[in-house]
Amino acid sequence: VSETGSLSIIVLGASGDLAKKKTFPALFHLYHQGFLDQNEVHIFGYARSKISDKELRDKIRGYLIDERKAYDKVEALSKFLQLIKYVSGPYDSEEGFKRLDKAISEHEISKKSSEGSSRRLFYLALPPSVYPPVCKMIKSWCTNKSDLGGWTRIVVEKPFGKDLESGEQLSSQIGKLFDEPQIYRIDHYLGKELVQNMLVLRFANRFFLPLWNRDNIANVQIVFREDFGTEGRGGYFDEYGIIRDIIQNHLLQVLCLVAMEKPISLKPEHIRDEKVKVLQSVIPIKDEEVVLGQYEGYKDDPTVPNDSNTPTFATTVLRIDNERWEGVPFILKAGKAMSSKKADIRIQFKDVPGDIFKCQKQGRNEFVIRLQPSEAMYMKLTVKQPGLEMQTVQSELDLSYKQRYQGVSIPEAYERLILDTIKGDQQHFVRRDELKAAWEIFTPLLHRIEKGELKSIPYKAGSRGPIEADELLKKAGYIQTHGY
Ligand code: BG6
Repeated sequence: VSETGSLSIIVLGASGDLAKKKTFPALFHLYHQGFLDQNEVHIFGYARSKISDKELRDKIRGYLIDERKAYDKVEALSKFLQLIKYVSGPYDSEEGFKRLDKAISEHEISKKSSEGSSRRLFYLALPPSVYPPVCKMIKSWCTNKSDLGGWTRIVVEKPFGKDLESGEQLSSQIGKLFDEPQIYRIDHYLGKELVQNMLVLRFANRFFLPLWNRDNIANVQIVFREDFGTEGRGGYFDEYGIIRDIIQNHLLQVLCLVAMEKPISLKPEHIRDEKVKVLQSVIPIKDEEVVLGQYEGYKDDPTVPNDSNTPTFATTVLRIDNERWEGVPFILKAGKAMSSKKADIRIQFKDVPGDIFKCQKQGRNEFVIRLQPSEAMYMKLTVKQPGLEMQTVQSELDLSYKQRYQGVSIPEAYERLILDTIKGDQQHFVRRDELKAAWEIFTPLLHRIEKGELKSIPYKAGSRGPIEADELLKKAGYIQTHGY
């Protein structure tokens, strides 16, 4: 991180789940790897509960305890925890935020050696309902006031509203207080290693350039599966459902990277311009290209209403109406309580014309990018079965990260993204117009589901989801092959 000056990272909602499980561990990893300078950084937790610095540190320590297995991290952990201070107060109280500002300013004065500039990063690990009052308080009382430079940045997490209207309302409330370059909307899928690899793969390899279009690609699938249900989050989840939780953000962001045109440069705005164009080219989703499911047992959660129609599984087909992709179905599929935990991008190629080997029934060429677990890329291709006979067989060219990059540890998505917020790199964050375009795609469908015009089909927990989804895939032209 090249800029210097005091750096204050303020985690609002410091005792909540997101902060404990993701934000603080990511900060600790960054600290341990030397990305947060001991002489510049201070971390503040802010939340309502009245606890001491020590109590917050103890809570956080609980989530970092595994790290202590590595001997060299023990010392780093206790030094890291010493950097954390806690301020308690409500999310709409002037008094609380004035105290927070005082604590930050004291830290800044104590770090005067670093030229007096002040960098303030506010991480809102909070429910979006409190974003507007919190942003207002930050703007009024806590922004960087140093004449010597620096900045104030805000990091927010989905859900950014529930549909186009509420999303736009939230954007405009925050937009009145902070400029777009100050706002970092996290979609943590954009921090995953193989998602970040997508543009390199597409635009730095001659192999793919001529093939990446409707002439060669039959269909694209972006699949997310989890082998557990909503566990303890039923109440929250029931208001949102799988489309808002996973598809409208994580999978759609991945789709943008698969489908976008080459940006004119790697500047964040050039990349995001191309992503917006993809989203704006998606045509309205047809009801017959949607299958919704709800796992049996979902409604046993006492916080979920008995008549809930909220999907915990969905398959939808998106169609991009442009020169590159017309006619190619992009199948987005996500489900909770499925048979396995996996996230894949599957690019299936068209059949070879004039198949002299009559081998097409063995399967098509397919390029699979496994985002998780066990990051990998593999290409299914047809080869001659070794031996005397001339027989063909489907095999794989396999790049498994664990084998190929032994000993290289892959950073957590949050680690990377938080580092970007400090560096001021917005490439892997969602711009306001991207968010709007994403809501435009899904809002009509979400409203139809809410009106009960589309029903969720029950499926067994631990299964592959409703069989109707497999039928939809077949109709969209996906041909199942075996192997991996
Ligand atoms: C979150 C969703 O955004 O992503 C969760 O709200 C989901 O429901 C999680 O479990 C999945 O993230 P990952 O990184 O484990 O695939």
